Amino acid sequence: MLVSFSVIAADEAVSFNSQIKPVFDKYCIQCHEGWFPKGKLRLDSVENIREGGKTGFAVVPGQPDKGLIIMSIVPGKNGRVRMPPQGARVSDKEIMLIREWIRQGAK
Ligand code: HEC
Repeated sequence: MLVSFSVIAADEAVSFNSQIKPVFDKYCIQCHEGWFPKGKLRLDSVENIREGGKTGFAVVPGQPDKGLIIMSIVPGKNGRVRMPPQGARVSDKEIMLIREWIRQGAK
């Protein structure tokens, strides 16, 4: 996809702490951290993300389209509730970054 080249240089490793966590902090963390996270999914650390939520895998390392995070933020995927439920949408650029992070193994 063309847009990926403007966001991530080929083979550049995506960093969870500096590139991915800020996106979840901005759109998701208010509902997805702490003792009673929505959907039983915490998005505050790689470990918690990998643990997934009440209905399954939030990420499948290496396969961005198989995990619930991408299904929930990309329009028209699977008829799932869109995340975040209200307010600003995750931008295409941020979605590209998350996809690339998962493709690289969600580390
Ligand atoms: C205003 C609160 C709110 C925000 C903000 C929010 N969510 Fe959610 N999320 C929910 C609720 C409520 C559920 C449970 C929906 C259900 O059970 O049908 C949920 C469920 C989920 C699930 C499914 C978990 C599972 O295993 O069933 C995923 C994945 C998810 N959210 C991802 C995200 C992502 C990624 C963001 C940020 C881009 C986000 N959410 C932002 C409220 C929120």
